[in-house]
Amino acid sequence: MPAKWLKDAVFYEIYPQSFKDTNKDGIGDFQGIIEKLDYIKALGCNALWINPCFDSPFHDAGYDVRDYKKAAGRYGTNEDLYRLFDEAHKKGIRVLLDLVPGHTSEEHPWFRQSQSADQPNEFSNRYIWTDNWFCGSNLNYIAGEAERPNAYIVNFFKCQPALNFGFLKPQEPWQLPMDHPDCVATREAMKDVMRFWLSHGCDGFRVDMAASLVKYDDEVKSGTCAIWREVRGMLDSEFPEAAIVAEWARPDLSLPAGFDMDFILNDPHTHYASLLRDYNAPVDNTYFKKDAPARDINRFMDVYRRWYEQTKGVGYICLPTCNHDTPRPRFGLDETELKLAYAFIFTMPGVPFLYYGDEIGMRYQDGLPTKEGGYQRTGTRTPMQWDGGKNLGFSEAEAEALYLPVDPAADAPTVAAQEADPASLLNTVKALLKLRHENADLQADGPFEALCSEPEKPFVYRRGGLVLAVNPAGEAATVRLPAQGMKPIFTLGNASVDGGTLTLGAQSFVVLK
Ligand code: GLC
Ligand code: CA
Repeated sequence: MPAKWLKDAVFYEIYPQSFKDTNKDGIGDFQGIIEKLDYIKALGCNALWINPCFDSPFHDAGYDVRDYKKAAGRYGTNEDLYRLFDEAHKKGIRVLLDLVPGHTSEEHPWFRQSQSADQPNEFSNRYIWTDNWFCGSNLNYIAGEAERPNAYIVNFFKCQPALNFGFLKPQEPWQLPMDHPDCVATREAMKDVMRFWLSHGCDGFRVDMAASLVKYDDEVKSGTCAIWREVRGMLDSEFPEAAIVAEWARPDLSLPAGFDMDFILNDPHTHYASLLRDYNAPVDNTYFKKDAPARDINRFMDVYRRWYEQTKGVGYICLPTCNHDTPRPRFGLDETELKLAYAFIFTMPGVPFLYYGDEIGMRYQDGLPTKEGGYQRTGTRTPMQWDGGKNLGFSEAEAEALYLPVDPAADAPTVAAQEADPASLLNTVKALLKLRHENADLQADGPFEALCSEPEKPFVYRRGGLVLAVNPAGEAATVRLPAQGMKPIFTLGNASVDGGTLTLGAQSFVVLK
């Protein structure tokens, strides 16, 4: 059973570098997040996911952790982070940190010892070392870096050596089984990190590359799932309120393994991109685009419905507006299209995630030079745009000192401008989240059934006692309703009901009761 507080949770993802700088050094900080908690609350979000904010050389924006138990100095101290937990809790906001269990920075003391010439030592097997200093053409192996005469496996960048959770079926003497004491020690070390932050008041973790733990795992990730079930056992007995969300995009595997939630990511197998950002397809058929030439929500819905049926009651599927790895939805969608996309995301079952700045339609800043291993992801990580002041209210530092430049466009969207406009994207997001909080049927556990998902027609779905319909097209459409006499309780664009027929204007959305 997922943590109870998730039933009505709406998450706000914060990339801490870029949210709010309070000490004029050009980079966001914990105090900045604390100062914006009221804003987040007023938006309708009651939970946060903060990207890694731990000591790190930042070769991958903090996903290369050097000390799991120490806050990165540039954001503040551990005490500041504990204060953030406290202040958030006072306002009814939960906080997830980002756990990176699969790899560390090559500067982590465990790795410094593991790679040293002084072998064996306590950390010799904390990482995965071959029996040779030469690794041939094997791409995931790094040779020529260590003092010891072996090569090691990395999970992502070269600076991120993979921790050793063992091999499902060891084939070579250097491949240890999962129950080898040194692999068990890795597992215990990760539980120790979780206990540390949970006992200081955090509410759980977003888990980075959650599928990556056991090497040469099978198709259904039996080895890695066994480890997560063990972690779940620990949480259930020691921190029963804690929640974990997997970066995995296989809810059929991750939720039965003990995760409360899993993200639908941009990966090709989910087809989620076809809703919000289909620009790599031969023809741009992004579902929510007004002029999509062959609109078909089933590219996504077929996958979603299968997973939904398989995991109902076990855990939640999360639809994010975006994340720090993906171009922002504003890259391909205009403001009206975004409103409809968010209306869909925020009225689906499971737990929605809003990426900071998507609520005002911040742009993807194409062509920025890479920052901290961001590469193309850098354009999604620019500073939050609060108001028309210096650096759009992000920081009092000089522009050259900023972590990343703010949107240079004259019409860069800001919170202040959109707060003043009742029809803005920001106020639409607020209204949608309010609607969700007021109607249990729209929340995580509310029932879901697709009533019409035919290509080129409005998508019509039922959530308990409510019927919802979205028409992203530029022309009006009619829909036969399952019952007579339903009344609109929420509308974007135009919608009217006559007996059992709903007429939906161009680019519209409606919730009927
Ligand atoms: C995940 C993170 C990404 C990071 C990678 C390696 O995909 O979301 O930002 O670079 O893992 O940790
Ligand atoms: Ca700062």
